[in-house]
Amino acid sequence: MSFVITTPLYYVNDKPHLGSIYTTLICDTIARYKRLSGEDVIFVTGVDEHGLKIQRTARDKGVDPQVHCDDISNIFRQNWNNWDISHNKFVRTSSQKHELIVKEFYKRVKKSDDIYLGVQKGWYCVGCEEFKDNPDNSPTYKCPIHQKNLEWKNEENLFFRLSKYQLQIEALVNEPSFIQPNKRRNEIINFVSKGLKDFSISRTNVSWGISVPDMDNHTFYVWFDALLGYVSAISLDMRNPSLEESINKGWPADVHLIGKDILRFHAVYWPAMLLSAGMKLPKKVFGHGFLTREGQKMGKSLGNVLDPNHLLSKYGKEAVRWYLLKDISLGSDGDFQNRRFVDIINNDLANTIGNLLNRTSSMSRKWFNNSVPDKLRLSNDDYLESYSEKKVKNYIKHFELYELDLASNEVLDFAIKTNLYLNEKQPWKLIKDKNNINLVSNIIYNVLESTRIIGLLLLPILPDLSTKIDSQLGLIYMQDKSWIEQLNWGLLKQESKLPAPTPIINKLEYE
Ligand code: MSP
Repeated sequence: MSFVITTPLYYVNDKPHLGSIYTTLICDTIARYKRLSGEDVIFVTGVDEHGLKIQRTARDKGVDPQVHCDDISNIFRQNWNNWDISHNKFVRTSSQKHELIVKEFYKRVKKSDDIYLGVQKGWYCVGCEEFKDNPDNSPTYKCPIHQKNLEWKNEENLFFRLSKYQLQIEALVNEPSFIQPNKRRNEIINFVSKGLKDFSISRTNVSWGISVPDMDNHTFYVWFDALLGYVSAISLDMRNPSLEESINKGWPADVHLIGKDILRFHAVYWPAMLLSAGMKLPKKVFGHGFLTREGQKMGKSLGNVLDPNHLLSKYGKEAVRWYLLKDISLGSDGDFQNRRFVDIINNDLANTIGNLLNRTSSMSRKWFNNSVPDKLRLSNDDYLESYSEKKVKNYIKHFELYELDLASNEVLDFAIKTNLYLNEKQPWKLIKDKNNINLVSNIIYNVLESTRIIGLLLLPILPDLSTKIDSQLGLIYMQDKSWIEQLNWGLLKQESKLPAPTPIINKLEYE
């Protein structure tokens, strides 16, 4: 059984911004954690390439839509590489494999008698690629997300019988584990309780899309097309993909991780589509919050978009990961503040974790022949050992609930407590009396062992920093033991050599 996690498939109207990096980093962290916990992970990401928005972007640039999509998709891939994203599927909705899956799926839905021809009238936001509910009938009504005028549409479309699935969807969204966090679940329960309306799944005015079989001029509505990317990504056969193959290879998804803006599509429309096609439903949809910048929503129109590449080259990926994962609670909006960012990295990573490692390693090298000292169990000092057990337990509990900020804070708290322990014990004073050597040996061992476990706990969150901690401790990661097993206390080998310490992260400066 695989663990399947997905990012949204990002629109290729523009290159990735910090929001898309944010969602992808979260999925990456969860995917790494699950792999380390022994699961076979399928981590799906990719791009959503069809629809009016992309068609117009390409037209405005004066290039063929496919050429435009090739360009931007490559930029996404490149970005994911630069950020060391550990995905194993990158789906493109303009690929032939995907098109075949969409058509096969449509056939199933049609067979369930869930498709009919009708007339779609309403106000449409091209940015969201979505009809808006009951705006006051005025062309000046703006989409609250994109701040752009809506467009009036009145055309013949194919419709999907969403209303038929009212009871099933009602039951689904009421299941506590399906939509998270809870506050988002309530919004959806409320929406569903008002009664589900059929929605249109084809367009006659959009040429950049997958053509609907036997329907001249109709292309599939971009959302009907894109959601299936999660399924086509799993199929391995490029030439003859099939729904059955995707099902055998891992469908359904364990979790769709998405922004709160697209929750309705994932928690209502998508499950109904899958029910109609006789396919299993995703187990969970997690709607995370939005990133704002210095208190304001980040957006092109406000001109305050943070360029992730700038952050990457200036501060490095570990710093950005730590800030986004540790400082922002996954379900809530999070604000990017430059000063806070710099302070957090310097306090948490450089001062607390980095210094702990460096000063302890220096002391150990100096007093114990460049090595880890003997572990002499002193019956009255199991403080760090029991603290470690507690922290590891809490960390796992939080990770399982996707509380990445709380899991990260457990690690930080462990490092803070270990520093305090060191300050209280003051081995630098004790060592002055030779009779204290066993006591000092025990203290230093305890602290180094805590540092080893802190490094391990950081592995899914800050993979590079964790690897640096491991090298500072003399490359002690054990390939023959699982990560989980290595979280047990007491595995640091006495007398293993400690290399000369170097800082694991540089201090940052304010911009
Ligand atoms: N193409 C659709 C998704 C189809 S999934 C089958 C889409 N794409 S998008 O490019 O607009 O990306 C949406 C996702 O990017 C959001 O759901 C969210 O995960 C992420 N973010 C975009 N802006 C964001 C912020 N300002 N903050 C955090 N995440 C944001 O919708």
